[in-house]
Amino acid sequence: MKYTKFDKSKNYDLNIIFVFEDNMSAIGRAIDRGPAFDDIKISINNKVMSGKAGSRNIFTSKLYDRSYYFVGLGKKNELTTQTFEKCLNAALKEINRYKMSTISIDLTNIKIKNFNLLRGSIVEIEKAQYVYKKSSNTSLKQCALKLSSTFETKQLNQIILESLAISNGINKARMLGDTPSNICNPTFLAKEAKKLEKINKNIRVEILDEKQMSALKMGSLLSVSRGSKQPAKLVIIKYMPIKKKQPIVLVGKGITFDTGGISLKPSANMDEMKYDMSGAGSVIGTMQACAEMSLKNNVIGILACAENMPGSQATRPGDVVTSMSGITIEILNTDAEGRLVLCDALTFCKKYKPRYILDMATLTGACLVGLGKYPSGLFSNSEELTSKVKKSAETTGDRVWELPLYNDYFDELKTNFADIQNIGGRYGGAITAAAFLANFTKDEKWAHLDIAGTAWEIGADKGSTGRPVKLLTDFVMANK
Ligand code: BES
Ligand code: MN
Ligand code: ZN
Repeated sequence: MKYTKFDKSKNYDLNIIFVFEDNMSAIGRAIDRGPAFDDIKISINNKVMSGKAGSRNIFTSKLYDRSYYFVGLGKKNELTTQTFEKCLNAALKEINRYKMSTISIDLTNIKIKNFNLLRGSIVEIEKAQYVYKKSSNTSLKQCALKLSSTFETKQLNQIILESLAISNGINKARMLGDTPSNICNPTFLAKEAKKLEKINKNIRVEILDEKQMSALKMGSLLSVSRGSKQPAKLVIIKYMPIKKKQPIVLVGKGITFDTGGISLKPSANMDEMKYDMSGAGSVIGTMQACAEMSLKNNVIGILACAENMPGSQATRPGDVVTSMSGITIEILNTDAEGRLVLCDALTFCKKYKPRYILDMATLTGACLVGLGKYPSGLFSNSEELTSKVKKSAETTGDRVWELPLYNDYFDELKTNFADIQNIGGRYGGAITAAAFLANFTKDEKWAHLDIAGTAWEIGADKGSTGRPVKLLTDFVMANK
């Protein structure tokens, strides 16, 4: 979509204006006075228009040929990023139904602590243009931005460019997540990653096949793809525009379908396990965003891709494998496969001497049980990295919640038959999974995001969210 500065002499199909329930009088300033304003005053007095969060009213002034869309945001001082995005998103969805081509959006009276409002708004508008089914395409072509702070044109254009790169990355991750597993398999993900080379000459993509992974002794990762006809792939996406600077390494779980393997999952909602590659999808999306805005930072993305199937060659519960690190693992549950692919990818990435490692994975149902669908679970061995991730979560609204990694959790992984086992006890499953991973990143600053609850939406809005691309791009931009 094309973004311009608001021009009051121009007519847009619809003008979005945000209203607060405790500040309704501000409306007069936002619009042309005249008959339209009288109508609106009457509606306010009759409480047709309330400004409550989630309320929306359209008014058209025939005389002035202007249409306004009043989007309620609730109480002014209680406004959060989440409420803002939710209300804006609902409004944009409705606009899509009206098949409009131009809108304006008035951001002059909104303030949210620590939130980058302009960038966040453009990203939300772009996200609302995403559809998986081509038959339901949207019609918006242009959006005019009404802003309170005066930007130089150059600066405004830069923010627009960055916001578009971020939203394109988010929508790419969503498209990959929504693509069914009969198409989106490890080979498909590797090809999608390879396409990134076209965006920016500083991107190089390497794809390791099973033979090459065997040579590297990745016995843990390879144990996951054994039951599937689809071969595993390890994909390395290098974006290194700066000479002699240690990279940030992003590692993504890329299980293109998770049946559970021999520890087969129950059939209810198993289709959702097409989203089990969302960590890898978020890495591709983030790499794309960085490359598209020609970001001045070094980033390497690693995708650990495999399909977890219960074929005749599949790994059995009780099997012992040797990971690339040399640590031996007793696989007690083949459905705890994410950690098995990730641990070899984490060992592999050490060769790039990472400044920070972040891994993203739809790792545990327990994370979903514990935290619900709003924040991603955050685990780390570094306070410095933890606070940086939390900061990016706050500026973007892509929320995280930290969980502890006490020694006790590590003790739950002890076994008589190998160095560690791949599951803990009955409780705290998200944490024992993270503790498993921590065994492989002892010497670097590492953080793990469990996105089991945040990577996709269920119900009427079922579909990939593209999280945590927004958090990750902010992290890479903020830590140059
Ligand atoms: N991909 C799943 C986790 C998952 C389940 C995410 C449901 C979102 C919704 C993962 O591979 C898995 O199966 N984890 C097991 C671990 C258990 C066997 C220790 C789980 O969470 O049940
Ligand atoms: Mn599983
Ligand atoms: Zn899984």
